[in-house]
Amino acid sequence: MCNRDLLAILRQHGQEHLLSFWSQLDAGQQKSLAQQIGGIDFPLIQKLFAQRQRQSDFRDLALRAAQPAAFRLDASKNRFSPAEARTRGQQALVAGQVGVILVAGGQGTRLGFNHPKGQFSIGPVSGRSLFQIHIDKILATARRYRVRIPLYLMTSPATHEETLRFLAAHDRFGMAEEDLRVFCQATMPAVDAATGQLLLESRDRLAVSPNGHGGMLAAFAESGAMADAQGRGIQQLFYFQIDNPLVDIAGAECIGYHILSDAEMTSQVIAKRDPLEKVGNVVDVDGRLMVIEYSDLPEDVASKTNPDGSLTIWAGSIAVHVFDLDFLCRAKDQADSLPYHFARKKVAYIDSTGRRVESADANAIKFERFIFDLMPSARNAIVVEVDPASAFAPLKNASGAAADTPESVKAQMSELHRQWLRKAGAEVAEGVAVEISPWLALDAEELRGKVRPGLKISEPTFLE
Ligand code: UTP
Repeated sequence: MCNRDLLAILRQHGQEHLLSFWSQLDAGQQKSLAQQIGGIDFPLIQKLFAQRQRQSDFRDLALRAAQPAAFRLDASKNRFSPAEARTRGQQALVAGQVGVILVAGGQGTRLGFNHPKGQFSIGPVSGRSLFQIHIDKILATARRYRVRIPLYLMTSPATHEETLRFLAAHDRFGMAEEDLRVFCQATMPAVDAATGQLLLESRDRLAVSPNGHGGMLAAFAESGAMADAQGRGIQQLFYFQIDNPLVDIAGAECIGYHILSDAEMTSQVIAKRDPLEKVGNVVDVDGRLMVIEYSDLPEDVASKTNPDGSLTIWAGSIAVHVFDLDFLCRAKDQADSLPYHFARKKVAYIDSTGRRVESADANAIKFERFIFDLMPSARNAIVVEVDPASAFAPLKNASGAAADTPESVKAQMSELHRQWLRKAGAEVAEGVAVEISPWLALDAEELRGKVRPGLKISEPTFLE
């Protein structure tokens, strides 16, 4: 496309400033800028910007919110017992009908690590990376059930190339090439919060960022990963995020509850300890499950309690889900099944004089899709409660922050593994760092019998 054609398109949408530096660019830069501009859906951006003030009435939604269909940790009132669920989940795993989706396209800005988060060394003793810990678990699970479990790994343009290089340099941590499919999500441009104009990151580049973990749905389909899963006979996909090393990947019990409930989507939740805890709240509104974000939940409604004193809105999402593959196929055909959310963020940009501006305030709007917005479209969606101590340790923040730091995550991993060891008969000194390789045991049960009773551990130990 030549400059004149581009200008005509941009003028229609009030975005001609994007060509301000055109005459200063060399041919390669012009081509790449033109390509980026050609990929932008300007009418969509305009529509989203116009809707930025429109807010759902979250008070009304929250007041109508009932408790979601749930499998609680106290299983006494559950429709199916944990043992029944495990048996059903194991059958699905043995049949090779379970695959895994890992989303790792985020920029990890809060952690302040200048590489894909999956490369972060988090093993409290081994120093193993998040990628390795997750892949070890998937391979150990595949070995347990004597099947292949495909991993569909989502990256973004921000993490794609480096992730591929890292995985290749480590021989995919032992995963067969045909079982690992890396697919890249799309981006959305950031716009000026006051004017809706797209921002330039440099004279020849738009400021863009990954389109949210909800970008998984389109990317999974468009990359051919969905067709690959169909071709393998996959029926359920276990979805999780890169930042949680404790997640029980493809755990039989969770998959079992999903199948026994004939659910199309299952979400793991924790019982909130604080009404305003910073997790999405899974609720039932008019017979459909949905998430109300903590920032949208009015404080007085959040504090409502049941007659026994427990929170009414109790279920905090930890962003671990099971999806029926058929459901994802159907959802991707329903345009707008995932709405865009708006986030005000600080975004550095080039102003009209070519000067780089680092704004002190949130100057821009980013548009993101969230995967949990699939919930209301799912038949029989359910939640499964997990114990945060054994299933949820998200790595979000840099050292020194109040929570979710490398230190707190490592401490939680060590504490869990100390408990497993003690249950297996070992004597472990309080506070000593321990780590159990997924290849040795995926849970406390599996560790039993693999540890010499009376084994004394008093210094940092990695068992594999
Ligand atoms: P977060 O919302 O915690 O974002 O992502 P983040 O990028 O890790 O960290 P900050 O907010 O920049 O500090 C939760 C999960 O969703 C993935 C992330 O990789 C992480 O696993 N994600 C997020 C994507 O895959 N794509 C996105 O566009 C956003």
